[in-house]
Amino acid sequence: MAVPFLDLRVQFAEIQDEIWTVIRDVVESQQFILGPAVERFEGAITETLGVRHAIGLASGTDALFLSLRALDLGPGDEVVTTPFTFFATAGAIHNAGARPVFVDIEPDTLHLDAARVEDVLTPRTRAVLPVHLFGQMADLDPLLELCERHGLVLVEDAAQAMGSRGLVRGAWRMAGTVGRVGCFSFFPTKNLGGYGDGGLVVTDDDGLAARLRRLRVHGGARTYFHEEVGVNSRLDALQAAVLLAKLPYLAGWNEERRANAAWYDRRLAGLAQVKTPVAQPDRLHTYHQYTIRAQRRDELKRFLDARGIGNAVYYPLPLHLQPCFQGLGYRPGRFPEAERASAEVLSLPIYPGLTQAQREEVAGALEAFYR
Ligand SMILES: Cc1ncc(COP(=O)(O)O)c(C=O)c1O
Repeated sequence: MAVPFLDLRVQFAEIQDEIWTVIRDVVESQQFILGPAVERFEGAITETLGVRHAIGLASGTDALFLSLRALDLGPGDEVVTTPFTFFATAGAIHNAGARPVFVDIEPDTLHLDAARVEDVLTPRTRAVLPVHLFGQMADLDPLLELCERHGLVLVEDAAQAMGSRGLVRGAWRMAGTVGRVGCFSFFPTKNLGGYGDGGLVVTDDDGLAARLRRLRVHGGARTYFHEEVGVNSRLDALQAAVLLAKLPYLAGWNEERRANAAWYDRRLAGLAQVKTPVAQPDRLHTYHQYTIRAQRRDELKRFLDARGIGNAVYYPLPLHLQPCFQGLGYRPGRFPEAERASAEVLSLPIYPGLTQAQREEVAGALEAFYR
């Protein structure tokens, strides 16, 4: 039996009546750009996450890019981040005019290794940008302390972590709400995904929120009057309506992901060639991806592909080795943990709606390969 890596039709079948209703409402209102649908969704997010402001944007990439612009980062500035993430994290730093400075990752969680950040700080460092990779919040305690001590801004890439939580300074906090800004993506495959591109920034900073609202409409708080040059990057009203309809289901879907992960954890525990993801006790991991580390990963991948078992490699080439960043001067071997992870990781189907038979099929295929 083939098992898709992700099947969004299961989710759609569950909610399609609501989805068609909200889409029809937007179409009937003929308010496609910002307006009530976007305002309602932004309001719902501020309540769900417990923040002052939510600003809907066209993508998670723009959420990062415009956050950095709103923080006045630019040429000469350095932003410390992880080389083991989706390209947008570092691409946004570059496009804001600043320089991404990478540090290696922590091998268990695959997060930016906070203990190594201090080594790369220079007088030009302005911000630290951790990524809540695969749905698990990075450990923000050491990064907060470091940012305070050095006068740096903490920007969270929470693109993969809507609804995730973690203990920060002894209190449970939602991913994206700890730093000066938190950036989210609503790419359709995300735990809260739209029906197209979408993104959002959250912040408690009134000035930053106003600046972001301006930057998303070409830098003008009033139409046709421009305080600065911004971009066109608004969360689409149809996407906002879809996302608002989906939001009440998110916690349940995340729980299903967690249950699937717990099942795989138990089932794969006996396979010595596979290391299951490390979920830390002080985080609520929402498993945007269930990512194992596997011996003979490429062979395993080919075996699963041949059997129609969905799988994916996130990410096959760390960012410090991407051709476009060769000018930054990093060479192979510079970040051994990130490079090793790229060679070993494999994400398995984890989506809500995955059946027991499908999980069995995935686990059985792994066992068959290593037998
Ligand atoms: C970690 C991370 N950062 C940023 C992004 C960019 O988001 P988007 O695809 O919405 O531009 C993504 C997702 O695609 C992501 O996974």
